[in-house]
Amino acid sequence: MTHTLAVVEPLPWNRPLIGAEEEREVLDTLRSGWLTHGPKATRLEHAVRDRLGAEDAFAVTSCTAALHLALLAAGIGPGDEVITPSLTFCALANAVLQVGARPVFVDVDPVTLNITPEAAEAAITPLTQAIAVMHYGGQMCDMRAFRKLADHQGVLLIEDAAHALHASRDGLTAGSTGDLAAFSLYANKVAAAGEGGLLAGRGDLVHKARLLGRHGIDSSAWQRHGKRNTADYEVTVPGLKYVMSDLTAALAVVQYNRLPEFTARRAAIASAYTSALADLPGLTLPTVLPGVEHGWFLYAVLIDPEAALLDRDVTAAALLERHQIATSSHFKPVHTLGPYRDMVHRPMPVTELAAGRQLSLPCYPAMTDQDVERVINAVNDVWS
Ligand SMILES: Cc1ncc(COP(=O)(O)O)c(C=O)c1O
Repeated sequence: MTHTLAVVEPLPWNRPLIGAEEEREVLDTLRSGWLTHGPKATRLEHAVRDRLGAEDAFAVTSCTAALHLALLAAGIGPGDEVITPSLTFCALANAVLQVGARPVFVDVDPVTLNITPEAAEAAITPLTQAIAVMHYGGQMCDMRAFRKLADHQGVLLIEDAAHALHASRDGLTAGSTGDLAAFSLYANKVAAAGEGGLLAGRGDLVHKARLLGRHGIDSSAWQRHGKRNTADYEVTVPGLKYVMSDLTAALAVVQYNRLPEFTARRAAIASAYTSALADLPGLTLPTVLPGVEHGWFLYAVLIDPEAALLDRDVTAAALLERHQIATSSHFKPVHTLGPYRDMVHRPMPVTELAAGRQLSLPCYPAMTDQDVERVINAVNDVWS
């Protein structure tokens, strides 16, 4: 008798959910004769502006581009300080260094892994020009308190809302409270367009960012197309090239409109994990604060190696090797990375503890109920 081993398909940490509507919209753009920033990007900008109640929105090539433009538009530069978490991706801090300013890292709250208004306030100096919050995993920071603090101190409030394209807290939508907010449409984000980003917020600042993001030219290619000589333009400031193409926008606009559906599925998966994994020793599951509509970009757990009798890296390796389930970790603290290592920082005990204990389980709408069961069984098996 011959035995055939069942082949277990690997379960990735993330996979976008792309359907017929996305295919139709991209094909429509391919056939339209207009591939760069044009009508589809404008549709996306209007959808974002209307949803946030923002004065303006600009579709760009990445969230990193949006953050860079935010700092440039705000005139942040040499001698200025920007307060930001270290438990985040390097994009904001890199952009701060690029404009010649200095990132000032603050520690995060142990429950939400977000920075708090109190920690930010303690880091304010006469050089502070902006506070850049990051909504960790899709759970928003306390934006009412941050708005008050920024107004009181006379500094700019920027939201790095890369994780929170569809989230709210205390009735405020992520990205609606800062002077500027940056979103990501990167391949693994809650609305995935491969690469892409959005900058939304105050009209005067987004207007400047729009100029800076298209070489400083006073009109877009689409505006000039068919209406006047395409070379008839003025350069008002020495800008960069950060505009989103319509090919990307075609995909992004459909994904953006599907966010309520996607987020509901993410929330259902999160709820299944929370019910099934609550009793495992040493495993801290995400806490959702009252008033929060979580965006669930991450289902972020913390593993205490003493209580769990295994650590985060052993857990990740066991899930991968025994169960072919991939996980991720968010983040390597930015203050420990190359350009930041030799800077003087305030102590960051929570950030450093979380960096060694945090694990992100698969949580995305392309997962089936069987996939969710499989993750639950695998985590239980690793703990047994
Ligand atoms: C918090 C945060 N900010 C910014 C970014 C950068 O986004 P993008 O890849 O769209 O530039 C990321 C990417 O993962 C992120 O996690």
